[in-house]
Amino acid sequence: MIGYGVATSAYQIEGAVDVDGRGPSTWDEFCTRAGAIVDGSDARVACDSYHRFDEDLALLEGLGVTAYRFSVAWPRVQPTGRGPANPAGLAYYDRMVDRLLDKGIRPFPTLFHWDLPLALEDEGGWPARDTALRFVDYALLVTGRLGDRVPTWATLNEPWCTAFLGHAAGVFAPGRREPAAAFDAAHHLLLGHALAAAAIREQRPGAEVGLVLNLTPVRREPDGDPVAVEAVDAVQNRLWVDALADGRYPAVLPVPGAARAGDLELVRGSADWVGVNYYTPFRIGAPAPATDAVGQDVDAYPGAPDFSFAPRPPLTSMGWEVDASGLEEVLHETARRLPGVPLRVTENGAAFRDPAGVPDEDRIGYLASHLEAVDRAVAAGVPVHDYFAWSLLDNFEWAQGWTQTFGLVAVEPETLRRVPKASYGWYADHIAKRRLLSP
Ligand code: FCB
Repeated sequence: MIGYGVATSAYQIEGAVDVDGRGPSTWDEFCTRAGAIVDGSDARVACDSYHRFDEDLALLEGLGVTAYRFSVAWPRVQPTGRGPANPAGLAYYDRMVDRLLDKGIRPFPTLFHWDLPLALEDEGGWPARDTALRFVDYALLVTGRLGDRVPTWATLNEPWCTAFLGHAAGVFAPGRREPAAAFDAAHHLLLGHALAAAAIREQRPGAEVGLVLNLTPVRREPDGDPVAVEAVDAVQNRLWVDALADGRYPAVLPVPGAARAGDLELVRGSADWVGVNYYTPFRIGAPAPATDAVGQDVDAYPGAPDFSFAPRPPLTSMGWEVDASGLEEVLHETARRLPGVPLRVTENGAAFRDPAGVPDEDRIGYLASHLEAVDRAVAAGVPVHDYFAWSLLDNFEWAQGWTQTFGLVAVEPETLRRVPKASYGWYADHIAKRRLLSP
């Protein structure tokens, strides 16, 4: 059977931002800007998972997951993004790994899920080449400590978001609106991944190092401009996949000014596996101002002619179209472009308004249809190794603050008490049945 897990990220759940020597990150700073987070909230406390890992572990056990995808906070390990490790920061993840293994749950860490040490942003951030080199040092500190027990690593989570939501649209940290810098950031994220992957394999022979991309089919509505479809597909999907598969960027995109000869040779073939985060397909509609689907920002596609996002119902509370066929399609397409590379669904899930005590049937329906899509892809021979539902807990949804709830478990705002939703029980049953059926 494939593995079944749940996913979280450090910044969205840990809280404890000033504890045990953690340094500030770009997201801590971004949250202080007026209007940056829709509800004016922040993640200083978040789900307080830093102090409540035991509770979260009990929830993982209750689900019966085979794996837990979490991220390591760079500013806990290196408070200023460089130099020796902060012992308390590494110790936190070291203990987490041991506790998970004790319970028979495979730890599945991501090294960078968007929380860049602020000191590195002050030195230029991802548009600066040095950040890629600093990422390698950081990665080796983590894998040097945990790699004896953890064989599989994700370097980056959704570098498209960091590069283009962060540097072109400016709606994510660091909030810049400089398209040229976004392409440089994309290039250095890929370079950082490739250099870190090579260094980790040298340090830990046998390690499997991949990265997590948010890939999605880009569909054209009858009034959509095919040129916009191609531009969105290039920035969202092909920039990343073409670089990994062929060592080149799509011809329709500008060559990043920061790219140096030889860089893309390092990127080509650098992923031992690829994670696909899938939530929704994109539909490109009339050349009109953005329809403003949450998290889908036209400014994040520099160079695309005017277009609007035109999601079709049913929609989640993010405004994202629900369509499981998109997951199947993206798995097939990624397998076609990267033959022989194992794939994982590293995030999939849905935000709905879940009034307390009301069964979250919408979420169950979403998960069920997408798990079926994964089954169909596997039956057709696509090498999908794991599926991770996003997310274990309702958590800090970036620029959407606390307004969007993706969790299988609710977190009461005042008490931080964890309250499992109906989807939690449903997913636990699904996993239990799969375990019974597996040889
Ligand atoms: C993805 C992010 C994850 C979460 C989900 C809803 O883009 O990787 O942290 O916010 O979306």
